[in-house]
Amino acid sequence: MSQSSLRVSIDDLREEIADLDSPEDRIAYLIELGQTLPELPKEYQTEEYRVLGCQSMVWLVPKLQGDKKEGGDIEFRGSSDAPMVRGLVAILLAAYSGRKARDILAFPVEDFFGEIQLKSFLTPMRSNGLHSMVQRIQAIAKGALLLDVSPSSQPQEIKPARASGYRVTLPAIAIENCRDDFPILSEKLPCGKPWVYLDNAASSQRPTSVLDAMNRVYRTHYANVHRSGHQLAAQTTQAMEQSREALASWIQADSSEQVIFTPGTTASINLVARSWGDANLRPGDEILLTEMEHHSNIVPWQQLAERTGAIIRWLGVRDDFHLDIESLDRLLSDRTKLVALTAVSNVLGTINPVREIVDAAHRVGAKVLVDAAQSAPHGKATASDWDADWLVFSGHKMLGPTGIGVLYGKRELLESMPPFLGGGNMIKSVSKQGFVAADSPHRFEAGTAPIVEAIAMKPALEYLMRVGSEAILAHERRLAQRAIDGLSSLSGLRILGPSIQSKTGIVSFVIPGVHSDQIGQYLNAAGVAIRVGHHCAMPLHERFSVGVSARASFYFYNTEAEVDAFVTATLRSSEL
Ligand SMILES: Cc1ncc(COP(=O)(O)O)c(C=O)c1O
Repeated sequence: MSQSSLRVSIDDLREEIADLDSPEDRIAYLIELGQTLPELPKEYQTEEYRVLGCQSMVWLVPKLQGDKKEGGDIEFRGSSDAPMVRGLVAILLAAYSGRKARDILAFPVEDFFGEIQLKSFLTPMRSNGLHSMVQRIQAIAKGALLLDVSPSSQPQEIKPARASGYRVTLPAIAIENCRDDFPILSEKLPCGKPWVYLDNAASSQRPTSVLDAMNRVYRTHYANVHRSGHQLAAQTTQAMEQSREALASWIQADSSEQVIFTPGTTASINLVARSWGDANLRPGDEILLTEMEHHSNIVPWQQLAERTGAIIRWLGVRDDFHLDIESLDRLLSDRTKLVALTAVSNVLGTINPVREIVDAAHRVGAKVLVDAAQSAPHGKATASDWDADWLVFSGHKMLGPTGIGVLYGKRELLESMPPFLGGGNMIKSVSKQGFVAADSPHRFEAGTAPIVEAIAMKPALEYLMRVGSEAILAHERRLAQRAIDGLSSLSGLRILGPSIQSKTGIVSFVIPGVHSDQIGQYLNAAGVAIRVGHHCAMPLHERFSVGVSARASFYFYNTEAEVDAFVTATLRSSEL
């Protein structure tokens, strides 16, 4: 088939499309155009000629005409199983087939698409597919210039956009004005007293902007993402990808491809353990954990050690509640394959010297996973500053919804990691013989994602940024110090945690002779919500020879009056 045998020329296209008024007419025209494409023989409808990155099946078959050394013309045949996409193939053949490689590469394709208003009625997914076809044609032309028209030079799939330096342009929020933004904070007990919520390390509350965003998506443009080609799906997909970009930019990732949506911190850690861990750990390899880890950053590694024969070693916590950094060099060796540590302890509030530990681990060739579940809510979770190989955190602790979290990974690591869950959305193609996995992030996002939750991470992040990490930490520390001072009259009181300038607003404590459960129950009756127990950190409690502790965790929306209510109730509970 030569270009001249096509029913349309580029000029015909310009003219005919210009006459069409509505998007529906243009779609009908594309379908009609597709019917003019000659059948592509079955022997060419193979993986070898398939264009990856298109939602439907698309094949492009090149043939170099004339003397290769003279730089002959490239004829294309093509087809698709989707009628409208056949129309797009017909347009591309009109533009490219029968031209010299150099002319193909020089052809101003974007201008041409603009002239025929092609993108104005294509969904983003179809545009991506079209882009993949153009890339494929250009790759073939480049190959032809090297006297090689082998169709094996597959183009790259269209990737999610790069992190684009996302900035919040909305005005700053002063802490003293923020309470009204959290409807739940004005809820009352049956007796009419207000609730005092001091369990923020377990989960934060959400501002109206987050609640409204979720409501808006469900009410106005909800659809499944990355699959259907219709407008609703396109809008929802775009909103989810914008949220991914915002998060990528916030954690200083190079690209949004490095931000994987997971159900939360625990799921992110398990993903790394199953995917990277199973593929890389051997008997005798070592994993270094710290004694202050949450069970989520212990058990997946213990399970990995059981599966692989790896050994777990522990970096201790000193009596002053800081990590025993002096032992680090003794514990690290070329056997250490992984260090997993929390940026902030969920019991002590201790802020750890993450970068120092990451650098030491990297010196022996170990990878580092940083658990930022307790750090992100205070505005700190930075992939590049920390040089973390993986960074994980949860939405629900940082004003976002439940069921959503982030796994960031260094690009080369994500590329080397096999998918963990298999299913829809994580593949490039599937045949009876097997599957080809998609690239990150989709490779690790099998099945339908928590779409609305992912979208609502953007307003959550924006709120956090508008309050500002410095203001958040300063306010929390003020409240935590007020609480510690208020409790100080209790005889034998043990505050589990370092001095205030080394921690976040977490106050964990033990009152000798008073069981934490008694404190929790009494405070609950007084309308003060704190947490008692081991806080998913049993090894840490064992280190300090206490079974359980009580924990008040303050956030930027808490007030001094709430601290005083907590102190008063705690003092009373100890007198029972
Ligand atoms: C330090 C730390 N890591 C991990 C987790 C687990 O987070 P999620 O339950 O959201 O998966 C928590 C939750 O409290 C935590 O504090």
